[in-house]
Amino acid sequence: MEKDRFLWGVATSAFQLEGSPYADWMSWDSKLHAHPDLTHHYHLYKKDLKLLKEIGVNAYRFSLEWSRIQPAENHWDEEAIRRYQEIIHLLRQEEIEPIVTLHHFTHPRWFLDTCPWHDDDSVSKFTEYVKRMAEALSDVRYWIPFNEPNVLLLGGYLDGRMPPGIQNQSSFVHATANVLRSHGEAYDILHSRIPEAQVGVAHNMVVFSPYRRWNPMDHFLSKMAHQYYNRSFLEALQNGLLRIRFPILKKIEINLPFRGKLDFLGVNYYTRIHLQFNPFRRLGIALKYEDREGYGFTDMGWEIYPRGLEQILREASAFGLPIMITENGIATGDGQKKERYIKSHLDILEDCLKKGMDIRGYFYWSLMDHYEWLKGLDARFGLYSVNFETLERKATPVAGFYSYLIKKRSQF
Ligand code: FCB
Repeated sequence: MEKDRFLWGVATSAFQLEGSPYADWMSWDSKLHAHPDLTHHYHLYKKDLKLLKEIGVNAYRFSLEWSRIQPAENHWDEEAIRRYQEIIHLLRQEEIEPIVTLHHFTHPRWFLDTCPWHDDDSVSKFTEYVKRMAEALSDVRYWIPFNEPNVLLLGGYLDGRMPPGIQNQSSFVHATANVLRSHGEAYDILHSRIPEAQVGVAHNMVVFSPYRRWNPMDHFLSKMAHQYYNRSFLEALQNGLLRIRFPILKKIEINLPFRGKLDFLGVNYYTRIHLQFNPFRRLGIALKYEDREGYGFTDMGWEIYPRGLEQILREASAFGLPIMITENGIATGDGQKKERYIKSHLDILEDCLKKGMDIRGYFYWSLMDHYEWLKGLDARFGLYSVNFETLERKATPVAGFYSYLIKKRSQF
């Protein structure tokens, strides 16, 4: 992994920019019906890739839309694959390092219909896709098999807010084991076919704090949440043992047939959550976003908490792997607020680097406005704003600001 060049980038995901007629999410969220092609990035990608050059990033994290590549179980769309080859070629021409996410929340519909993650066949179906991609995109070095497996599994199999909408602990356990196994297999496939491959995970990490400082139950829950949400998946991928203990739920222990399946650790950091013990809520927990530092909230309702980035990076450092901040960003239409958010987080990053943490990259989420899961089109994360009617992309002043900051700091 590169030590001499800090990767400054932006991150996106395919579905959030362009939708897909073959993906599970298309029928999941009715907010997509009015604008199924979203920003039309599927056709406008060449224009959009030029924006990267305009900002001056040296890396770009994006995802492959599995459902476009394999729209039916026995059909691979060569045209869709060629488009990704072209994207990578265009990035290379501009000396922009591609960081490829293989799975960013969405699935081909046939996959969820026949073998969702709690079905053991899911692993071989996913690995067929990984093999195909490792062959087609063999010049890609940085790979992320899964974006935020903790969010995917909680949302899809325990709280049911994401497809396939299951709320069942035993399905959750099976699905978790299969996603982790799939990561392990993807790691081996990528390494066997691409000798210089670097394989990581983009892991969503949250600072959990007790809502009431004096309340031992709130403390206890925060610790448990931290252990489960921030640590358990990483421990499993590193040591081969997944251990989850959560009040009310049965204790979970799964032995995986591998260990050491991460070359780098990607961290997606956005916010802090306060936890309150509340026996009337599911799992006995109330989740709260609080403005305790006076930085305010984002349009997602999330607390802005830059100091939390240091806490999270410290946690991540304990795993002894090179770290990339694979996502960090804010939804707001207020440019000054967005600039303050970026600057304050980059100040913390700089501080952490000075303290000797092994951080190799930072990716702002996101290049341009897009569809936000379950929220629709109003959460404005973009450095470029998008008019979803005219499809016009417009540089916000924040794009120039980010560009200036990364130029100034490129000596990292
Ligand atoms: C992360 C997701 C990403 C985006 C941001 C706001 O959890 O990985 O797709 O939606 O949140």
